[in-house]
Amino acid sequence: MTDDTVADAFGFFRAWLKDPLMVAAVAPSGRALASLITSEISDETGPVIELGPGTGVFTRALIARGVRQEDLALVELGSEFAIALQLRYSAARTLWMDAARLCEVELFDGAPAGAVVSGLPLLSMKAGKVLRVLTGAFDKLEPDGAFYQFTYGLRCPVGPPLLAEVGLRAERIGGTLANLPPASVYRLTRLHGDPPAHRLRHVS
Ligand SMILES: C[S@@+](CC[C@H](N)C(=O)[O-])C[C@H]1O[C@@H](n2cnc3c(N)ncnc32)[C@H](O)[C@@H]1O
Repeated sequence: MTDDTVADAFGFFRAWLKDPLMVAAVAPSGRALASLITSEISDETGPVIELGPGTGVFTRALIARGVRQEDLALVELGSEFAIALQLRYSAARTLWMDAARLCEVELFDGAPAGAVVSGLPLLSMKAGKVLRVLTGAFDKLEPDGAFYQFTYGLRCPVGPPLLAEVGLRAERIGGTLANLPPASVYRLTRLHGDPPAHRLRHVS
């Protein structure tokens, strides 16, 4: 463990003590989960929006996959996390705001994003807020763009009624036991056209 990792873990735990519902985990995600949630993203994805980056575990993985900092928008509600992200990833755009207000801001000079990576605690949010997060995120995504969400739960944290309301499908792209606690990642995409057969089912 590097000094930075220890400091991040300590800062994360302190943030959780202050607001357990908002932070929703006692420690940052591990490298295996960061690798899984970014596995379909590359330098060809285009701009990427990250929701709830916390200490930036997924941010680091995105940059390692070739996403330029200039193509990253980091949306974080925790003020201490937002300040640290701004200092660490100064060429990225850090927005200290509620991800449910995404539709109110312009990102990447209006260019659509290729992907959204979310560490948001959707299960501890009210349905209306999750709806606003999803509509705001898909408003910023290109037609084939994907929203990646991890969960510690056994099914997709966005249930079938909400998926149907927004016109989305969800597919589990994998899981990792090498995270505390073990986690799964879901890909949410728009229901449109003739999707490839492997994307037809909703995995719950
Ligand atoms: C479970 S932690 C995940 C942090 C990081 N992505 C990781 O995996 O280690 C949830 C993160 O979402 C942030 N968050 C919670 N609600 C939010 C909201 N409405 N808008 C933006 N960020 C939010 C928290 O401050 C925290 O950084």
